Amino acid sequence: MIDSDLVAAAEDVATRAYVPYCEFPVGAAIRTHDGRMFVGANVDNASSPLTVCAERSAVSAAVAAGARRIVEVAVHGSAESVSPCGGCRQVLAEFAAPGCVVSFPWKGARISVPLSDLLPYGFEL
Ligand code: THU
Repeated sequence: MIDSDLVAAAEDVATRAYVPYCEFPVGAAIRTHDGRMFVGANVDNASSPLTVCAERSAVSAAVAAGARRIVEVAVHGSAESVSPCGGCRQVLAEFAAPGCVVSFPWKGARISVPLSDLLPYGFEL
C-alpha cells in the first residue's frame, strides 16, 4: 500500500502548480531510499514544449538535494486517470531503486504499479 503521506504531499503541491495555459494542476511526491520526501508540480510555459511535468520537477528537487535512489512515487491530478507520461517514466527510471512503485489515479481509483511495469524495456546506457 502506498504511503498516505506521499499521496497527501502530492495533493498539496498540486495546489502550487503553475498552469495558466493547460489549467490542469499535477503534483508528484517522491520518497528516496534515505526516507526523505521531495515534491514537484507542473510548470507550464507559453512555449508549450518547455512545460515541465510534476514528476520531473520532483526528480530535480531530489537530485539537487543529493538523493538519487527513488523507492516510491505518488502522482496527483484531478482527473479519472493521471498516469506519468512516457518521458517522465524514463526520467524516473534513471533514479529508480529496484522495486520502485508509482501510485496514481486510474479510472477513478488510486493504483500502485511497479515502475518496471510502466516502462518495460526502458532505454539504458
Ligand atoms: N503533466 C504532468 O505534470 N505529468 C505527467 O506525467 C503528464 C502531464 C502536466 C504537463 C502539463 O502541464 C499538463 O499536465 C497537461 O499536459
